[in-house]
Amino acid sequence: MRFPAGFRWGTATSAHQVEGDNVHNDWWAWEQQPGRILNGDRSGSACRWWTRAEEDFDRAAALGQNAHRLSIEWSRIQPEPGRWDEAALERYREMLRGLRRRGIEPMVTLLHFTVPLWFAERGGWTREDAPALFARFVERAVPALRDHCDLWCTLNEPVGWVFSACIRGTWPPGGRSVGGAMRAATNLARAHAAAYHAIHRHQATARVGFANYFRLFDPADPHSVLDRFVAARQDRFVNRAFLDAVTAGRVRAFPWRAHIPEAAGTLDFIGVNYYTRDLARFDPLVPRQLFGRTFPGPGLPMSDGAYGVIYPEGLYRVLRLAHGYGRPVFVTENGIPDEDDDQRPDFIVSHLREVWRAIEEGVDVRGYYHWSLVDNFEWAEGWSLKFGLIALDPATQVRTERPSAQVYAEICRSNALG
Ligand code: FCB
Repeated sequence: MRFPAGFRWGTATSAHQVEGDNVHNDWWAWEQQPGRILNGDRSGSACRWWTRAEEDFDRAAALGQNAHRLSIEWSRIQPEPGRWDEAALERYREMLRGLRRRGIEPMVTLLHFTVPLWFAERGGWTREDAPALFARFVERAVPALRDHCDLWCTLNEPVGWVFSACIRGTWPPGGRSVGGAMRAATNLARAHAAAYHAIHRHQATARVGFANYFRLFDPADPHSVLDRFVAARQDRFVNRAFLDAVTAGRVRAFPWRAHIPEAAGTLDFIGVNYYTRDLARFDPLVPRQLFGRTFPGPGLPMSDGAYGVIYPEGLYRVLRLAHGYGRPVFVTENGIPDEDDDQRPDFIVSHLREVWRAIEEGVDVRGYYHWSLVDNFEWAEGWSLKFGLIALDPATQVRTERPSAQVYAEICRSNALG
């Protein structure tokens, strides 16, 4: 099974999860509060990428990877409203140059969940001027980095973030209001649109997309009209709402309705983040989940930490869904928490078969970024979930390659599945 010439093979990371010592953002503050992160974990010095990313870039290159998706940290570049840190931008330039020197083409994400503390304290994404504040950061960052990158991902998983941070309240700022959540969602779409236009103004050759969190929702009982109804509503809100916003400029995905004309046609590619599937059962007691109680369902293997079932066909299904929007697609994240690596080798192969199948049927998939290169700080799950091709002991910083790293390397090098 050969992949198209020039296919991007890489891994994905995000600044806060790997850099360490990101003391100026909302997550750092959140981690200091008791009970927020599993086992009281903290990001701490994470994978020490701020000073030593190049050592892991060497490992990625040695593993045959030709692409890497990373994010830049707004709070480093603008630690205070009136202060821009040129040294931080220079460090990012150095990282991007370092990737290209190793034959690794970067994709840069501008916002991967974390925001500067000053921005969060002013009300974060619910504030009317949030898109303008974000645009100011983009206007600063893109001219500084454009010579070293031409693939830009504005936002990571905006709807997933809204759900965890504004409805469930398990991520900062811990909101639990549907009204506030929908205001934030609309502002994120406006922020994406502003970033899209700013990037194209500064770089004619840029391609700009965002990474959408895809999760499949199948009716628990396919014969139940109500189960089918709630599964379809969850699919509409989680998988399609933001794509509708940035293609049509209009969203009708209960409970989010918005008209955002400036966001119409602001998408050059779709980033697909896919991990797992849920079943959904109608339940009037869970309004915040759009009246659908979700659970993994029987019959499929489960990954570590009950993170989700392994369902490779789901990747094929979401690639087809993305294809419906008529844009090229990158799989910007796909991976599994699996400390002892007994499931990951098969996970990689079985999911890539589904990518190949989609390509064979005409879906324009340009690359695959496995999550992740090295174990890293997994948000509210702390250090408990191990997503790396390479294991990391955060206390000693000792890295140990897992067997799946070589399985993936073989595919990257041959641009094919055996
Ligand atoms: C995704 C996030 C990423 C990482 C993986 C496991 O939803 O974008 O930062 O945490 O899950």
